[in-house]
Amino acid sequence: LRVSEIKEGDGADVLGRDLVVQGWVRTLRLQSSVTFIEINDGSCLSNMQCVLNSEAEGYDQVESGLVTTGASVWVQGVVVKSQGSKQNVELKVNKIVLIGKSDPSFPIQKKRASREFLRTKAHLRARTNTFGAVARVRNALAYATHKFFQENGFVWISSPIITASDCEGAGEQFCVTTLIPSSQDTTDSPVDAIPKKNDRLIDWSQDFFGKPAFLTVSGQLNAETYATALSDVYTFGPTFRAENSNTSRHLAEFWMIEPELAFADLNDDMACASAYLQFVIKYVLDNCKEDMEFFNTWINKGIVDRLSDVADKDVVQITYTEAIDLLAVSNKKFEFPVKWGCDLQSEHERYITEEAFNGCPVIIRDYPKDIKAFYMRQNDDGKTVAAMDMLVPGIGELIGGSQREERLEYLEARLDELKLNKDAYWWYLDLRRYGSVPHAGFGLGFERLVQFATGMDNIRDVIPFPRTPGSAEF
Ligand code: 4AD
Ligand code: MG
Repeated sequence: LRVSEIKEGDGADVLGRDLVVQGWVRTLRLQSSVTFIEINDGSCLSNMQCVLNSEAEGYDQVESGLVTTGASVWVQGVVVKSQGSKQNVELKVNKIVLIGKSDPSFPIQKKRASREFLRTKAHLRARTNTFGAVARVRNALAYATHKFFQENGFVWISSPIITASDCEGAGEQFCVTTLIPSSQDTTDSPVDAIPKKNDRLIDWSQDFFGKPAFLTVSGQLNAETYATALSDVYTFGPTFRAENSNTSRHLAEFWMIEPELAFADLNDDMACASAYLQFVIKYVLDNCKEDMEFFNTWINKGIVDRLSDVADKDVVQITYTEAIDLLAVSNKKFEFPVKWGCDLQSEHERYITEEAFNGCPVIIRDYPKDIKAFYMRQNDDGKTVAAMDMLVPGIGELIGGSQREERLEYLEARLDELKLNKDAYWWYLDLRRYGSVPHAGFGLGFERLVQFATGMDNIRDVIPFPRTPGSAEF
C-alpha cells in the first residue's frame, strides 16, 4: 500500500495488517533499544513512522549506519497503534532492505533549505515537503481542469508547439533552428550529416519548414479552427515566450489552458472563466486537504479560508474605463501613472483585486483596442474591444481572453491597420469566409493558477523545471 492509503481514516482499517512500504528515509533516530525511521513515499505529505529493534531482519545495516537520510528502503511489518502523538499508527518492522544508499553529501537534510538553494537542486527538491505538496496540488489542478471541461462537453485538442504564426503579435517568439555542418550539401538529408574538421554549423530551418518557424506563444488560433468545427474545445499544453522579464510570475516556458467557445460572446466567456476557476479551486480544497493544510500553516497563512471565499463568491466584473477611474481616485502612488489608454501594470492590477475589491478576483473588460491583440472583436464605440482579463490577489493577471472578431471585413481592416501581412493569416481568415460564428475564449497560465492555489510566491517553484532567462539546466 502507499502511505496515503495506510493513513486514510487515521489508519483504523489497516491496524494489525502485515504491509510493505517503500520510500525514502526522511529522518532516522537511533536510540539504545529502538530505532525510528520516517519514510516518505511521495503519495502524501505524511511519513510512515517505522519502529525497529535488533530482532528485525536487516537491522545490522541500520546499526552500522548504512541507512541514512535520503536512502531508499523497503520495509515490511505490522501496523500498530503509535505511542507517539504525531501519528495514529506506525509500522513495527520485521524486515528492512536498503535498496539505494545515500551519500553523506545528500543536500536535502532535515534543516530547512531556502527556495533559492533548492532551485539549484531541482533534481532533488521534489523530496522536500513543499515541493512534494506543490507537485500533488499541480497534478490535482490538471486533473480538475480536464474534468471541468470534459463534463461541460468541451473536446480537448492538441495545438502545435512549432508554428509559423505569432498569435499575440508581441514579438516574443523563440525561433526554431535546425543546425547542420556547413560542408553538408543541403540537398542531401541533413540527418546523415557527418561534421568535418573546421565545420561551422549553419541554420537550415528555412529549408526544413519552408519559412521561419517558432515555438508557439499560444494555441488560440489553432483552437479557433477546431471550435468552428466541433463547437467548444480547449487546449492544455506548453507555450513559450522569449520575454526577458525576471519576475516572480513570468516563465519562458509555461503551460496554458485555452478554451474556445463557439456561438458565444464575451459574457459567455467570462461566465466560463469564473465557473472554471471556482470549480478547480473547490476541487483542490476538497481533494488535497493535507497538502492545503500544509500551505495554510507553513507557506501562506489563511490561504484555505481565502480560497474558500473565491470558490463561493461571484467574481466581480468591471470595465477598463471603470478600472482607470478607480485607480485615478485612489491615493496610491503608482510607479506608472494611469490614464485612459494605458496598459495596466501589475501594480495596478494588484491594487484593484487586493485593495479595491478586498481580495476578490476581478474581471476587467472592454480594453482600448490599441493595447490588445489583432484578433479581438471591436466594440460599437470604435475605441474598445471585447477583451477581458481576470486578476487575482497576489498575482495580478491570471487569465486573458476575448470575443474574437468573426466579421471578415473588420478583421482584414484591423490587420491592414496594424500593417500585418494578411497573406500569412490566410487560413485564419478562411474561418471567417466559411461559416463564421461568434466565438470567444481565454488563456489561463497554469503556473499562475498553481501559485494562486498554493500561495507559493515565486513561479519558479510551482513548475518542476523552470525555464527563465539564464536558466535551462536539468
Ligand atoms: O494574456 P495572454 O498573452 O493571452 C493569450 O495568449 C491569448 N491568446 C489567450 C486566449 O485568448 N486563448 O496569456 C494568457 C495567460 C496570461 O493571463 C497569464 O496567466 C499567462 O497566460 N502568461 C504567462 N504565464 C507565465 N509566464 C509568462 N511569461 C506568461 N505570459 C502569459
Ligand atoms: Mg494578457
